[in-house]
Amino acid sequence: MWFYLAVLVGLYFLLRWYREGQTVENLREKYIFITGCDSGFGNKLAKQLDAGGLRVLAACYTQKGAEELQRLTSDRLKTTILDISNTESVVAATEWVKGIVKNKGLWGLVNNAGIGIPVGPNEWLTKDDFAKVINVNLLGLIDVTLHMLPLVRAARGRIVNVSSVMGRITGFGGGYCPSKYGVEAFSDCLRRELLPFRVRVSIIEPGAFANPIANTVQEYMKGTWDRLPSDIKDTYGYHYFEFYFTALQDLIKNASSNLYLVTDCMEHALTSRYPRTRYSAGWDAKLFYIPLSYMPTFVIDYVMARSSPKPAQAV
Ligand SMILES: NC(=O)c1ccc[n+]([C@@H]2O[C@H](COP(=O)([O-])OP(=O)(O)OC[C@H]3O[C@@H](n4cnc5c(N)ncnc54)[C@H](OP(=O)(O)O)[C@@H]3O)[C@@H](O)[C@H]2O)c1
Repeated sequence: MWFYLAVLVGLYFLLRWYREGQTVENLREKYIFITGCDSGFGNKLAKQLDAGGLRVLAACYTQKGAEELQRLTSDRLKTTILDISNTESVVAATEWVKGIVKNKGLWGLVNNAGIGIPVGPNEWLTKDDFAKVINVNLLGLIDVTLHMLPLVRAARGRIVNVSSVMGRITGFGGGYCPSKYGVEAFSDCLRRELLPFRVRVSIIEPGAFANPIANTVQEYMKGTWDRLPSDIKDTYGYHYFEFYFTALQDLIKNASSNLYLVTDCMEHALTSRYPRTRYSAGWDAKLFYIPLSYMPTFVIDYVMARSSPKPAQAV
């Protein structure tokens, strides 16, 4: 019986490997628009797709980032400046894309841009701190998608939304995790709505990777304690801050520097005839966060609580 089961499982993976290995035709004529190309995954993906011959439309947050990327890539790749949290900027970028792709439409939209701070225990933050992150990571992503959708529909193309394992398991306070849970919900609904138009929506769920976003979290946490009112300091105690800070530091220290684990998933979602709905990228995502996310809540709470500090005035 075990033999037959092993054969069945083997056949399933073989079939999946064969199916997912098939790529779409005429890739070199397809346009891909990527947000957040100054650094990290967006930057890497823009270079990777450009090297593969695709027509990359790279949106950078800064002029410096755009110039640097342009310098390192082919003439095929074009750059623009985009702040996804600003609708005027999103409208301008959409017009720019429209002018380039014309009636071909946009094959790929990669919603990658995002920020990590403000972050910290929820009680240490304000509504504005939450809004700042959600405004970029969730509302910005939605705004870009809604504006670009007619172009993607025209090409019967792909939307690739970068979420996180923190959209499946909540690891820390602040707007980051809610924003990524929101990206998951928005993408799930969008996928069902766009199926009749043959537009595919994929979600990328990376674990921890050593990108600038991780350093900003560390930098931000350094000043957090000093900004707190004294009653909150007394409630939690300095030890709590130290523990929280060290845990974040460890997460960053152990983060993978192999960005291909993520950009290969993005590329697959854009180029395979049969893209996946979800891609978990990185060993921590595959072996820890995603399996844990399927556990009952009390198990998740127990596991997460084991790595959480105890407040000074805990009862
Ligand atoms: N690194 C990780 O461990 C990890 C894990 C899971 C998910 N993610 C997600 O992966 C995505 C990419 O992050 P990353 O790790 O590659 O970090 P990153 O290097 O900091 O990339 C984020 C990019 O977004 C840009 N950006 C920031 N605010 C923007 C705005 N308002 N409008 C447009 N662009 C903006 C940044 O520009 P500047 O560089 O000029 O600030 C940067 O180019 C994010 O959505 C992040 O949440 C990252």
